[in-house]
Amino acid sequence: MDRIRIVGGRPLNGRIPISGAKNAALPLMIASLLTDRTLTLENLPRLADVNQLMRILGNQGVDTSIDGKRKGEHEVAGQTAHLNARVIVDTTAPYELVSRMRASFWVLAPLLARMGEAKVSLPGGCAIGTRPVDFLLMAMEKLGASIDIDAGYVVAKAPKGLQGGEIDFPKVTVGGTHVALMAATLANGSTLITNAAREPEVVDLAECLSKMGARIKGAGTSEIEIEGVARLSGASHSVMPDRIETGTYAMAVAMTGGDVLLEGARGDLLQAALDDLVKTGAEVTQEEAGLRIRKNGGPIQPVDVTTQPYPGFPTDLQAQFMGLMTRADGVSRIRETIFENRFMHVQELARLGAHIHLEGDTAIVTGTQKLKGAPVMATDLRASVSLVIAALAAQGETVVSRVYHLDRGFEHLEKKLGACGAEVERLSAAE
Ligand code: EPU
Repeated sequence: MDRIRIVGGRPLNGRIPISGAKNAALPLMIASLLTDRTLTLENLPRLADVNQLMRILGNQGVDTSIDGKRKGEHEVAGQTAHLNARVIVDTTAPYELVSRMRASFWVLAPLLARMGEAKVSLPGGCAIGTRPVDFLLMAMEKLGASIDIDAGYVVAKAPKGLQGGEIDFPKVTVGGTHVALMAATLANGSTLITNAAREPEVVDLAECLSKMGARIKGAGTSEIEIEGVARLSGASHSVMPDRIETGTYAMAVAMTGGDVLLEGARGDLLQAALDDLVKTGAEVTQEEAGLRIRKNGGPIQPVDVTTQPYPGFPTDLQAQFMGLMTRADGVSRIRETIFENRFMHVQELARLGAHIHLEGDTAIVTGTQKLKGAPVMATDLRASVSLVIAALAAQGETVVSRVYHLDRGFEHLEKKLGACGAEVERLSAAE
């Protein structure tokens, strides 16, 4: 298994191109199942999760082709993929595939909407919490599907097609909103989703579905109305920039000091996190080419944050912000309200010398100037990148193992940081 070696203490200066968003790319790819025409997705990130989803969709019968390199194209430029689900050959998504990536469970909705049936393995547990799918199943039932659980599989049926209905989510759910939206586009009649997730990735999916001919109003607000149509067509859509990758590198610069332009990044997609970053002492400016982050050599101010659904502080940036706070000039409180077990990074950060104490859903972080490199282990995607942030400011060498977690969601991490002056390299399994 690959590892990443980092020697801390260097400021970051330069440019980092921001990739297409993983959490927008995945539902967009799944939406290709809704039509027998080609869906072209531009700016698709090169990530392990994207490749894995292509394999899963391939099992359903989706043909995928990826454009080759174009003249003058940058090595990290997004890919263009063409997905075609002309014939769906299998409405089952097996355990071996779904258990590797939770988001693949979402294929349930387009398969059910287009084929009238789907059999999808329950995704099972995950490192950051129990993550049930009850709201997603409730949404499908509200659209007229019958749901049975059989030997670890969800068996969903709607032989006469889905019917429009009212879906009121008891709690904001991104995945629930994605599946409700996809299923309702092909349902008979109109659907109203209330307490819908307002995340920008939901808006990106709704925009793509609209280009495919769906009739959707209100995406980005907590009430979404969908008027079902008989069929959807192909479309071409560019994946939005990754707001979590943006926030991650912004926090890395706030940690090390320096001046970095995050190319293609949009500050409006993560305003709450940027407001908190400014309070820590970093300077953030939106420029035409992207988002500029500057930090002089001054102290990092401690700032309290609480994770919330969008537009609040994102849970997917909680670990990274904690990484930054390990070096703050004082005590900060970081409260996680979305997932019950998203603090696995705490023990690993402690190995680098961080002082963190957990009280229920809150981590109390006492900053220290004495972070010191150590061998650490990646436990999940966002947790592992918080270790990278801390390592960039720690004295000496840190080796992060189980890097496959990072590869799920960060494209060319070591190249992007290395180009800005960080001492970072990938050690391949043999080394
Ligand atoms: N929930 C339920 N029942 C459900 C669905 C959700 O109780 O049926 C709960 C969850 O357990 C959680 C809360 O509702 O406590 C919110 O979960 P949500 O459904 O919004 O999460 P998700 O759709 O499974 C997506 C992202 C996550 C991100 C969350 C929250 C993708 C592929 N995943 O997950 O991203 O943390 O929304 O914003 O979009 C990551 O990228 O590292 C990641 C984990």
